[in-house]
This record gives sequence, C-alpha cells and structure tokens, in this order.
Amino acid sequence: AFGDHVSIVVFGASGDLAKKKTFPALFGLYNQGLLPKNVNIIGYARSELSNEELRERIKSFLKFKDDAAKLKADGFLQLISYISGPYDKPDGYHKLEEAISKYDQENKVQQSERLFYLALPPSVFTTAGKNIKEHCYPEGARLRLIVEKPFGHDLESSRQLQKDLAPLFSEEELYRIDHYLGKEMVKNLFVLRFGNAMLSGVWNNRHISSVQISFKEAFGTEGRGGYFDDIGIVRDVMQNHLLQVLTLLTMDRPVSFDPEAVRDEKVKALKAFSIDNDNILIGQYGKSEDGTKPGYLDDDTVKKDSKCVTYAAMGININNERWDGVPFVLRAGKALDESKVEIRIQFKQVAKGIFKEIQRNELVIRIQPNEAVYMKINSKIPGISTETSLTELDLTYSSRYSKDFWIPEAYEALIRDCFLGNHANFVRDDELDVSWQLFTPLLQYIEGEDRPELEIYPYGSKSPKSLKKFLIKNGYVFDHEG
Ligand code: BG6
Repeated sequence: AFGDHVSIVVFGASGDLAKKKTFPALFGLYNQGLLPKNVNIIGYARSELSNEELRERIKSFLKFKDDAAKLKADGFLQLISYISGPYDKPDGYHKLEEAISKYDQENKVQQSERLFYLALPPSVFTTAGKNIKEHCYPEGARLRLIVEKPFGHDLESSRQLQKDLAPLFSEEELYRIDHYLGKEMVKNLFVLRFGNAMLSGVWNNRHISSVQISFKEAFGTEGRGGYFDDIGIVRDVMQNHLLQVLTLLTMDRPVSFDPEAVRDEKVKALKAFSIDNDNILIGQYGKSEDGTKPGYLDDDTVKKDSKCVTYAAMGININNERWDGVPFVLRAGKALDESKVEIRIQFKQVAKGIFKEIQRNELVIRIQPNEAVYMKINSKIPGISTETSLTELDLTYSSRYSKDFWIPEAYEALIRDCFLGNHANFVRDDELDVSWQLFTPLLQYIEGEDRPELEIYPYGSKSPKSLKKFLIKNGYVFDHEG
C-alpha cells in the first residue's frame, strides 16, 4: 500500500468526470478517514484557474450527508491546489514536478509516492502518459496511474492504445477503471455465489433456465450527445459495465481473492462467451408520447440522420460445461421509464404433477437504486387454503441495514483499492482485449451498411415494443409479469 504521504494529481481537473466523480470520491474518502495520512492533491488542466477558483468549482459538486461533513469540506478543499498547462508540452509537467518534489522535501518523504488520475479523453492519454513518464517520474519514485474508459473504439484501436502505453507503464502501475466493479452489489456477487451452498449448488444449466442483466436510464443524452453519438449504448455501458457483471456472475470460483487469481478466472470465462449477430435488437429513442421530452435526433449535438443506438438487447451464449444452453441477455437503454440496473435469474420449472399451476423461481439482484437481493419462491397461502402463491425472500439493504451504514460510492471504493495497491477490481490488459474481440464484430454489424432495423421507442417508455418477443425467444418465461 501507499505510505503516509501521497501526491494525487488529477488530470482533466476542470472537466466533467473530475468534478462529478473524482474529487467527490476523494472527499468521500477523506471524510471517512480513508485517504492516506497526508495527501497533496493537485488539479491539472489547460484552463487558467486560480486555486480558489478550482476549489469553488469542486465545492459545488461535493455531497454532504450531514453538517459534520460540510464542515470537513473546507479542510479537504485546502489540500487541493491547481496547476494549468498543456497536455502535450513539457512546461506544465515541470511545474507539476516542482510542486510534488517541494511537497516531498518539506515533508521529508523518503520515497516519493504519486497517484496520477487521468480523467482525460483517450486522444490525449498517450501524450499525457509520455510526459508524465518523462518529467514526473523520477528515479526511485513510486507511481500509479488510473485511466478511464473508453479504452479504444474497437479491437484495433484498443490494441494500439495498449501498445502505446505498455512501454511507458507496467501493468502493475496501471489501474483501468470500470466503475461498475466498485459498486457494492457487484462486489457482493462473489460472496452471494461462492459463500452460499444453496446458490453455488444450483448455479448452472441444470437449474437455471435464463439470465438477464438489464440497465435502464430514465434520461437521454442531455448535452452529452456529442460524446455519445460516436459511441452508442453498446460501447458506453455494455462492452464494459454489463460484460463485467456477466463475467462475475458466471465465472468459476477463483482459487483465492488474489487479484491475478480473480482476473485469470475472469478471462477464462470471457473466452467462452459468444454473441450471435442474428440475436440482437437495437433501438433509438424518439420524442416522448406527450411530446414534452425530445427525441435523440432533436439533440443539436448529434448528427442529423444519426443511426446511433441508444437501446440494445443481445443474446450471449457461454460455451462451457456449466452454462451451455442457457440463454443470457444483456439489455441497456437510455431515455426509458426508470433508472435501474438488475440481474434476473430464472430457474427451471419444477415437475408439475401435484400442482395445477406453479410458477418459476427467480432470483433478482438489484444493483441500483436501493440495493437488494430477493428470491421469488412458491409458498402455500396461509390458512385453510391449499393454493400456492409466489412470494419473496427479501434482502433489501435499506430495510435490513441501518441508514448509518456507509456504502462507498463506486469511485470511492476503487480509488481506495488503488491506494492499497489492489488490482482485483480493475481491468487487466488481456481481459480488455477479449472483451473487444467479443464485441467488435457485433459493433461492425450494427454500425455497418447491413445493420438491422433501428426500432424507434418513445422517450420514457418501458422498452422498445419488440423486447418482449425478444426475451421470449431467449428463453424467458413471462409467468410473473404477464
Ligand atoms: C458511464 C456511461 O460509464 O456509466 C454513462 O458513460 C452512464 O453514459 C454511466 O450513464 C452509468 O453509470 P451509473 O453509475 O450511473 O450507473
């Protein structure tokens, strides 16, 4: 782990990600006493800003659970200073090095420890990396570098990026963030699966009949159209976030919690995944039915005739002994009726015989909002009735755990892991490569001339109309919701 004095440099300090996620996460850790003992936080970006101006900007994004936290904010903000400079010229990096070494000298730091957080677009990743390596990584220092997606646009560009970064930083030094790996319920998947005999015993194709991982957002691109238009929902959340969830859900038990053991097992699972291009549904949102919410194409920042995919559902097969024959569906969409991310596992039918009608078990793991794990089970209706009804065994966190329980935000959990030097919840290079191998042919298909039809769905709807048919085709039995 890092020691008592760490310099944390946030690149892209005036950008969206830094303001909304990175700085608030550092504050959250500070608030919980989970930052290294002494930190020297430096924001770096191109804009000319004073220390005070940066602090003001950051302050407006900090969330306070109570008054005590509010009081701590000023203490936190005083730890932050700002340096402006270009990403592609040495000038700013010299200033940065000066500031870090001054801090180290003043604090008599033996071994300089530095965390560089690159909240930057990928176009400047490599340049910034080169300059950091050359000007801000003196002999004997210890350095970690956090990078943010997108890690490429397809297999080829991702490989290029890895090739450019590899000579600069070792895999040990690189921390590729997929923030879904920091989410509480995602981290719980290991414990649920491997810590409960009643689940681990049925976690296979003999008992499970279908699995869905679904991501819904109740808002559209809202100002991010320029970014989103070249990316689409598949790259934005499926090739990374949902695929990570699917991997953790289906991988075999690693021999230990050691990061390499975990990631070896993940890669093995990923290699067994396949996507069938004929089993995909894509859509784009139009105006809401009442006309009050804009359609995707009404966003001025997107191409006028854009075919950008804002909704997708795809079937994934897992070609190994455990999962062969079980249909997995990943689905994700923007501008729907609610914001929710959940895993739904449907079990096989029990033998009917003694029952006239009996519904299937389902296990639902809700990642957000309101983390919950619940199991739909059949039970006799209490009293003289002999009928059965489907009811729930319910572990909803908000009713099971006290409100004072601190559940870290994904970014808080991950930045802390980085301080501790724990790579388990970061994406390894080979893992990234396999995920692009899996998704690139699909992306080429849905973005190519012979793409399937783009189904228009109204802003605020539950899903594109044909989703139900798609799910039925992929093995889901609708005896629960009709
Ligand atoms: C990001 C995507 O990676 O994840 C966004 O770029 C998306 O488009 C976000 O909204 C979802 O994250 P969360 O934590 O809000 O579910």
